[in-house]
Amino acid sequence: SKGGYSHFMLKEIHESPLAVKETISTMLSDEAVVEASRIISNANRVFVVAAGTSYHAGLFFTRYLNLSSLTAIPVIASEYSSYKAKSGDVVLALSQSGETLDVKMAIKKFRNDGASIISITNVIESTISRESDVKLYMRAGPELGVAATKTFVSQVASLMILKSRVLNEDTSYLAKAPQILEDAVEETEGKMKRWSTLIDFPSVYYLSKGIGVPLAMEGALKIKEVAYVHAEAYPAGESKHGPIALVSEGFPVIFVNPGLDELKVNMEEMKSRGAKIFSISTVNTNLTDNEVIVKSERDLEPFALSPPLQLLAFYVSVNKGIDPDRPRNLAKTVTVE
Ligand code: M6R
Repeated sequence: SKGGYSHFMLKEIHESPLAVKETISTMLSDEAVVEASRIISNANRVFVVAAGTSYHAGLFFTRYLNLSSLTAIPVIASEYSSYKAKSGDVVLALSQSGETLDVKMAIKKFRNDGASIISITNVIESTISRESDVKLYMRAGPELGVAATKTFVSQVASLMILKSRVLNEDTSYLAKAPQILEDAVEETEGKMKRWSTLIDFPSVYYLSKGIGVPLAMEGALKIKEVAYVHAEAYPAGESKHGPIALVSEGFPVIFVNPGLDELKVNMEEMKSRGAKIFSISTVNTNLTDNEVIVKSERDLEPFALSPPLQLLAFYVSVNKGIDPDRPRNLAKTVTVE
């Protein structure tokens, strides 16, 4: 049941705080997480293998690890044949459903290469978890909307726990994640409803820097997927190297966490080309009227910034008369090549 919500997607966005709470409490007490972190700490390289939204969540993990002395390589599952693993390498397979064919095929190939397999799925004894040496579970609860929403933030939480275990960090900072999510959903929904009427252009850019880049990528995927708006995400610095040529009067550009001074320069640059600037941020930039501020601790920013991106895609979809729960040409689980 949709529990009083118009769509599963909206219900599941609102369920994110609970999903993440469950993820955190189960993963923090899971012995398999300790085992997985031991294997990753001793790995030669870690291939983080996933598709779609799960791939974007995986980019957080590769970033955290690459900032330490470990080597992590993000692999789009269907591109597995471009890589060769060897004994001593580890695959971290991420799949909400645990049934995505591209991920299954990648696991098979990397296992043949000699790698060991760790998976994080949301479905107990899913095919991917059965094919793994160490099985971890998000326990975000069932997700019925085609768009991954609560499971994205739950994956991010799982990966934060895993990286904290790998890097021997204290995990108490995660306790605030559910509240940050709840505040972000509540405090941005009205504004995202209003912004959705301003996305009246055939294309949108999502720009960010650092940890915000995977969020920008995920925001762009969501609006393409459920609202059929052409969207692309770039590290803001990269936008100067080609993408800016497309920007003309009224072109919407959504900046994800542009608090950094470097991003302010990119904002000014886009503005001077006539772009319609939006900012989803933890700090005020005062560079546009279309600004939403979310509250967060520094390490938990993905939880504050994700809900508005998901809600914006949802409301653009609904405004256009699309059913966000059943976008055309898509299935919840992709079991074909
Ligand atoms: O079940 P999985 O996490 O393996 O699914 C991967 C993608 O198919 C999935 O994330 C897809 O991109 C979503 N529909 C995005 O909302």
